[in-house]
Amino acid sequence: MPTYEPVLLARINKPNSGKLEGYRADGGYATVERALKELKPIDVVTQVKDSGLRGRGGAGFPCGLKWTFLPKDHPGPIYLCVNADESEPCTYNNRILMEKDPHQVLEGIMLACYAIRSQKAFFYVRYEYGDAFRALESAVAEMYAAGLLGKNILGSGFDLDIVLHRGAGAYICGEETGLIESLEGKRAWPRIKPPFPAIEGAFRKPTIVNNVETLACVTQIMKRGKEWFQSLGVPPDPKNPRDAGSYGPKLYTIAGHVEQPCCVELPMGVTVRELVEKHGGGVWKGRKAKAVNPGGLSMGYLNVNTKLKDSDLTEYDIPLDFNGPGRVQCLGLGTAAVTVIDDQTSMIDVLHNTCQFFSHESCGQCTPCREGTGWMLKITDRLRRGLGRKEDLDVLVDVADRIGIMPGTTICGLADGAGWPVKTAIRKFREEFEAAIKSGAKSKYAKSLAMAG
Ligand code: NAI
Ligand code: SF4
Repeated sequence: MPTYEPVLLARINKPNSGKLEGYRADGGYATVERALKELKPIDVVTQVKDSGLRGRGGAGFPCGLKWTFLPKDHPGPIYLCVNADESEPCTYNNRILMEKDPHQVLEGIMLACYAIRSQKAFFYVRYEYGDAFRALESAVAEMYAAGLLGKNILGSGFDLDIVLHRGAGAYICGEETGLIESLEGKRAWPRIKPPFPAIEGAFRKPTIVNNVETLACVTQIMKRGKEWFQSLGVPPDPKNPRDAGSYGPKLYTIAGHVEQPCCVELPMGVTVRELVEKHGGGVWKGRKAKAVNPGGLSMGYLNVNTKLKDSDLTEYDIPLDFNGPGRVQCLGLGTAAVTVIDDQTSMIDVLHNTCQFFSHESCGQCTPCREGTGWMLKITDRLRRGLGRKEDLDVLVDVADRIGIMPGTTICGLADGAGWPVKTAIRKFREEFEAAIKSGAKSKYAKSLAMAG
């Protein structure tokens, strides 16, 4: 197979890759200049829609389709919010794009704003991403100085301002309506949807929320064409009329118990095994993999030793596209952050740590999420201390099944994300949990804590 040449990450190792001069020398901003001169906004919407680009933030919603949800002929302002509140554990693809090639993302913002007729974009950057924020500040200042932002950009009559906003330091700030509330200066409490932001978003105006990597893809689609985008990735499944396919390149991050944690760009649909063994340098210390999070904690766990139906392959061999993880009972591709757990790690410790994360990050508005995540944390804490009861596993699954936007008991998807790791860990590693309950042994980590006093 020919080696894939990165496109989104093509410039990141160049010296001064974040500078305007270098970006322009590589053909940067020629695409938006051409679009402003030769294309109507609807042409940009059509090209992005026809490319099949699906949002890279986690949900995979078709990007061009989302843009068409804006009210037609809206007289007032329309906003773009760039979601750079990247907080899913082990996910850092957006950070690399912002730190190393901010102009690629900023050109995507210009194209998106032209397409949706927005004159103001809010760039909401995760609080912890100080270097990315500074790289963006410097890139935006260069753009204003070069006439690429402000009034009458490049003599086209198009006006655009980009406002950088430093996030408030919580996972929930990445939920799109939590982000909007936070941008407005309030607590990041997600709003009930509908209305979706496309109808009523920031400052109660129609707003499109797009992820950083999605916008970098917009730059490349407008530069290289939709045919290029569709030449990569996975076409729609003919047996599934609701599948929109998984086209284009994708940034995968590989973390956890691997020799070389990294961010790698590959066509959508690469297998977990290839990511871990070829790009992540294999499982660390010569050990074997036991479990993998395919796309951030919220997506749940794969058991790499479980055979796929009618096949010699295992869950380690599933392709990471928008459908792949769903076929083996995970939630989906999520953020494509592959986290490896080695065979010497206790799944009870892993699950306890996961529950701790979600309980801490629940904003507390909805009782089922606030109490449910806390309840799951208490039970997993009991399990790791060797005090588990035989009914605990069923209680955990029952709680996980009942909290979330899917069962309709919460405002946002955080609680679903908290439930999937619980359901998949218990379903796929039940024997390990049952053996621990039976023996009453402390988990590995709980033992080490006890020894440390
Ligand atoms: P969602 O499926 O509710 O929405 C996806 C997008 O489509 C949103 O922008 C929404 O406004 C829009 N949309 C959906 N239906 C619409 C309609 N009928 N009209 C207008 N707009 C519509 O998913 P959500 O809750 O926004 O995202 C959840 C995902 O976020 C999870 O799958 C998870 O992977 C990901 N996530 C990513 C993180 C990161 O660090 N990148 C952190 C946490 C979660
Ligand atoms: Fe907050 Fe959880 Fe409700 Fe989301 S589901 S709004 S995080 S309490």
